[in-house]
Amino acid sequence: MEQEQIFQSKIDSNQSIEPKDWMPEKYRQTHIRQISQHAHSEIIGMLPEANWITRAPTLKRKVTLLAKVQDEGGHGLYLYSACETLGISRDELTAQLLSGKAKYSSIFNYPALTWADMGAIGWLVDGAAIMNQVMLTRTSYGPYARAMVRICKEESFHQRQGFDIMLTLCKGTEVQKKMAQDALNRWWWPSLMMFGPRDEESTHTTQALKWKIKLKTNDELRQMFIDQTIPQIKLLGLELPDKDLKWNEERNHYDFGQIDWDEFWKVINGDGPCNKQRLESKRNSWFEGAWVREAALAYAEKKSDIYI
Ligand code: 3HC
Repeated sequence: MEQEQIFQSKIDSNQSIEPKDWMPEKYRQTHIRQISQHAHSEIIGMLPEANWITRAPTLKRKVTLLAKVQDEGGHGLYLYSACETLGISRDELTAQLLSGKAKYSSIFNYPALTWADMGAIGWLVDGAAIMNQVMLTRTSYGPYARAMVRICKEESFHQRQGFDIMLTLCKGTEVQKKMAQDALNRWWWPSLMMFGPRDEESTHTTQALKWKIKLKTNDELRQMFIDQTIPQIKLLGLELPDKDLKWNEERNHYDFGQIDWDEFWKVINGDGPCNKQRLESKRNSWFEGAWVREAALAYAEKKSDIYI
């Protein structure tokens, strides 16, 4: 009881919790869940964009996309390392992902159909991720907060490159502008779902606020994202993807239409458009890459023999 009070008072006075500090088991487990889901999202999130590297329209776009996808892999690695400080191994985390037990962000279960999707993903998906993750740079668990600082800096570049693709398409031919509009229409609603269920249906928010894992609720962040993005849609000269989007003077926020929550629950429970394909692709590369891991281990052992 006393330990729990000391722990909570540290959180209340904005001191960070470090790996060797005492923490309630539920706090540890909550972090393992959230950080690993986040790491898996970064890794699975490489797939829809990697698919377009060979089809990028110019060398400059190809190099930029390649670097972005590589950054996402790096984010996964920082996050797995932060998670390992809580006493779980990277192998266990990988096994949870490959078996389908672990969740990852719903957004990566949608297909990237055209080049404009590379713009929409960078602009909207990374934009939504930043909205949520800037708050996480001040989250209570030290290793997670520190990993988020670097991740957020890189995500900001990702968002700019996505917006730049959209802007170029919108200044292009009618066909290109239509492609940009279609990408916006398809990625808008799944991007809003990234923030998680409505507050009244969110299992973890109340406790996460108390432990300062979350500093804002899912609905608050979703609203901030909508308010920030509408002017950007207007700047691009695209039509709003939701006919109910209207500025509300009283609330000082945009009102918006109904999110399809049935679709959200279906996707996070494994039945979205690309869930099976994403996991299969990850499993195949894990098994096909076994020889690389074995070779790296054998090389490390050989090297350590030399030095002994
Ligand atoms: N996709 C998949 N599952 C989701 C989800 C989503 N968009 N939103 C919520 N869920 C799951 C939760 O994980 C939880 O499931 P569980 O109890 O089985 O673990 C359940 O739905 C209930 O939701 P809660 O609101 O109670 O869950 P949280 O308090 O964890 O809030 C969250 C959800 C806001 C996503 C929070 O976990 C979070 O901030 N996570 C860290 C950030 C993150 O993981 N972002 C993912 C995107 S990363 C990314 O996009 C990569 C970038 O390169 C673009």
